[in-house]
Amino acid sequence: MAVLAAVALGAQPRIRGAHIGRNSRDFSASRRLDFLGFTRSGKRLRSSSLGFCKPRGVVAAAASPAPEATDSRYSQKLVLVVGATGGQLAVASLLEKGVEVRALLRNAEKARSLFGDKLQVVVGDTRNPEDFVPSMFEGVTHVLCCTGTTAFPSKRWAGDNTPEQTDWMGVRNLIAAVPKTIQRFVLVSSVGVTKCDQLPWNIMNLFGVLKYKKMGEDFLRSSGLPYTIIRPGRLTDGPYTSYDLNTLLKATSGTRRDVILGQGDTLVGEASRIMVAEACIQAMDLECTCGQTYELNSVQGDGPGADCNKWAKLFVSAGTSTNQV
Ligand SMILES: NC(=O)c1ccc[n+]([C@@H]2O[C@H](COP(=O)([O-])OP(=O)(O)OC[C@H]3O[C@@H](n4cnc5c(N)ncnc54)[C@H](OP(=O)(O)O)[C@@H]3O)[C@@H](O)[C@H]2O)c1
Repeated sequence: MAVLAAVALGAQPRIRGAHIGRNSRDFSASRRLDFLGFTRSGKRLRSSSLGFCKPRGVVAAAASPAPEATDSRYSQKLVLVVGATGGQLAVASLLEKGVEVRALLRNAEKARSLFGDKLQVVVGDTRNPEDFVPSMFEGVTHVLCCTGTTAFPSKRWAGDNTPEQTDWMGVRNLIAAVPKTIQRFVLVSSVGVTKCDQLPWNIMNLFGVLKYKKMGEDFLRSSGLPYTIIRPGRLTDGPYTSYDLNTLLKATSGTRRDVILGQGDTLVGEASRIMVAEACIQAMDLECTCGQTYELNSVQGDGPGADCNKWAKLFVSAGTSTNQV
């Protein structure tokens, strides 16, 4: 069943939306991964020095200084990344840009092995509202939520960490706790959430993952927070952190680094984790992405890389829908 769903989701996209030309040469995903300390097939960053954590809900002492940020867009941010092991490419890219990162995750050891002492760590479980203590949000300017679990029963559901608990209740708890003063809340959702009763989405949604992700989206839309929702297609590119369809199929995006952004939940296809991470980071700085929802697919080509001007063009071309679901 899982393979069937993956094959169905891997179908060719019906292309609609913005698309950067394929000839831009300022970015190479493999070089970028190497720079960030990942190997194409590997799982971790170069840095392995020990980090730190405090008991659940307590923000650790200041982390090692980030690389000097020359761009004020980056130096003035403190991004709380929730689900930072799943969102590790986003964390790595933020750190590379010199952005201060505070990571909320369940397992501090994972953060240590991935990022050493380069970020602040808060231990918490999004299913527990009491884990969202006010100190967690002190100084936070942006929130990036990358939490999720597998669509089908797996060991990642252990302890009732199901899609309902993770993609709905956990996301709801987080949104309810975030101060209204933040500049942007970026939520990673999924393509297909508006069509979970139709093929192939109804297969993926057998255990409710798309329904619950949509409920999380809707709660964010009605929260009053400035938000951007990114809905990727099936995620590709290492590191493989997930025992889901990706891992089963060992999917890779290869040279598919170009990006298609869409609106209206019409895209079907794959999305490179690298590009999803970059889209989330770039969207934080763009006024036009506030209150907007975008689907994201990766296709053959070099793509926008980390070029903010190219991302701005992509987001503008994708549109600004006033009637989003
Ligand atoms: N995989 C796909 O093909 C696909 C397709 C479309 C959209 N997405 C979405 O893209 C995002 C990243 O996907 P992924 O497959 O890379 O994710 P992943 O590797 O499964 O990572 C999910 C993250 O969520 C965290 N998490 C789960 N339950 C949590 C809880 N109760 N409290 C705190 N943190 C919790 C995990 O932490 P632990 O390390 O502690 O488990 C992990 O950091 C997710 O939102 C996912 O739904 C994925």
